[in-house]
Amino acid sequence: MPQHPNSLPPGNAGPPFTVKPVYWNASESLLREIRTRVFVEEQGVPADLEWDGLDEHAYHVMAVAADGTPIGTGRLLQDGHIGRVAVLKEWRGRGVGRALLDTLLVIANKMGYEEVRLHAQTRVLDFYLRRGFRSQGREFMEAGIPHVLMTRTTTDQTSWPAAFVTRPLART
Ligand SMILES: CC(C)(COP(=O)(O)OP(=O)(O)OC[C@H]1O[C@@H](n2cnc3c(N)ncnc32)[C@H](O)[C@@H]1OP(=O)(O)O)[C@@H](O)C(=O)NCCC(=O)NCCS
Repeated sequence: MPQHPNSLPPGNAGPPFTVKPVYWNASESLLREIRTRVFVEEQGVPADLEWDGLDEHAYHVMAVAADGTPIGTGRLLQDGHIGRVAVLKEWRGRGVGRALLDTLLVIANKMGYEEVRLHAQTRVLDFYLRRGFRSQGREFMEAGIPHVLMTRTTTDQTSWPAAFVTRPLART
């Protein structure tokens, strides 16, 4: 019988998921699958807006369940813009989004970005407020969805979150 992605083998004491940095050219199909399911299919974002040509030169992170299933992703652009934070529906509310965001903040800090910014969907403003982001200016529309510009310094983001896998950039 296929295993539900949330379930762990009996007696498994390891973390339910981990987060790791990945190369776009090595993990493109896995990251595309997550973002297609979340943004294109669930939220109705047009595919040509989702695939904006910026992924090849961005830093990407991927959350992986204990059984190896990719369950979430996010990216940091070279201009310090965080985006495309997405967690598969069945995994939400379990700290995956927070771990992805915290990992991106530490990457930004270590890469020398003192401040990061993002366009937050107004619906999930609290998710970012809880991670120390502050909203700037007025709501605007992007991909047909209301957004707010948010910024945050990264100077306090020096420690990797517990879910982070401490090994060199993975090729899967
Ligand atoms: C937004 C999203 C990434 C959050 O991921 P998640 O794994 O469910 O979030 P977590 O479980 O890590 O929650 C972290 C915190 O944010 C809060 N939070 C999570 N989703 C929230 C939401 N939709 N609204 C308000 N608060 C939210 C949680 O209560 C939690 O608070 P805590 O730190 O006080 O415990 C996920 O819901 C998602 O992928 N949504 C669809 C794609 C999307 O909208 N992405 C954002 C684009 S700007």
